[in-house]
Amino acid sequence: MKIAILPGDGIGTEIVDEAVRVLGALDLRFEMETEPVGGAAYAVHGHPLPERTLKLALEADAVLFGAVGDYRYDTLERSLRPEQAVLGLRKHLGLFANLRPALCYEQLTHASSLKPELVSGLDILIVRELTGDVYFGQPRGRRTAVDGHFPGSLEGFDTMRYSKPEIERIAHVAFRAASTRGGKLTSVDKANVLETFQLWRDVVTEVHAQYPDVELEHMYVDNAAMQLVKAPKKLDVLVTGNLFGDILSDEAAMLTGSIGMLPSASLNESGKGMYEPSHGSAPDIAGKGVANPLATILSAAMMLRYSLGQLDAAERIEQAVNTVLSAGLRTPDIWSEGTRKVGTREMGDAIVSALAGKFEA
Ligand code: IPM
Ligand code: MG
Repeated sequence: MKIAILPGDGIGTEIVDEAVRVLGALDLRFEMETEPVGGAAYAVHGHPLPERTLKLALEADAVLFGAVGDYRYDTLERSLRPEQAVLGLRKHLGLFANLRPALCYEQLTHASSLKPELVSGLDILIVRELTGDVYFGQPRGRRTAVDGHFPGSLEGFDTMRYSKPEIERIAHVAFRAASTRGGKLTSVDKANVLETFQLWRDVVTEVHAQYPDVELEHMYVDNAAMQLVKAPKKLDVLVTGNLFGDILSDEAAMLTGSIGMLPSASLNESGKGMYEPSHGSAPDIAGKGVANPLATILSAAMMLRYSLGQLDAAERIEQAVNTVLSAGLRTPDIWSEGTRKVGTREMGDAIVSALAGKFEA
């Protein structure tokens, strides 16, 4: 099993280091190879997704990714900005299915900005389409407007589009996920305004016929944004397009108290995937050893489950995270009075000892 390790920028290197140590502590053999990505790759090779980084990602069985983004490179032309590395990997690896669980750990219920009773036991899965929509739709760019409100003036434009097969394949992923969970799927769209999402609604409804055990509900995205903060526990699995999924998954993450806890998986047709924390590169705390490595460690667990077929190892890691949280260890982002504040390395150490059954609070 070959794993491509792409730490990236900011806290990326620190948190990926811990996940790599955790993988190394399992009684499994992996070949791991590391390449720079994002701003870190631009600094060395002049491109956020250099040839050799892409090659490694393509030939590996799975990719463990840290984070990209570095304000030093925000003024570069768009094609050279760190974020392009993520978009390029998604496109070249065909990672159309993004799974973003938002799980509120019982031990962290009080870290949420919502009332504890609203989020206690929360367990939502957002299935976000990741290679289509306005993110990738052509044409896009700037031009002189020929019509609209101000003909003759400069305008920016993007294209929102989804083909029927694109909607079908993400719908299948979501229905399958729903049938192994609560048996309920909420499809989020904007069918009341957008043609693209009227087609989305029609196609999801059609695919539903193949999943009679799953209850399907349709919800407009504005309402979904509201329901997420009003009564999030009424939701279980959500499926939506790329742009809406980007926004709603950040909102859902915040319900759980810290985005520093949330892993994610991006999968292609053959189950190969890229695994990364849901948070970004957090340049403000980079290099300080205080970042929470748990989202990345939990992403490694998702990798073991979805791409490497190591379900036991995945569960062991998740169990170790629970053990350590129950013992009161907290990185600053999840710290509260009465718990023990630890840094990135100490949290990683604790998980490694918990895996070995040697953890002592
Ligand atoms: C995410 C991020 C990315 C996105 C950025 C970094 C391109 O916000 O993974 O949610 O918009 O998809
Ligand atoms: Mg995002």
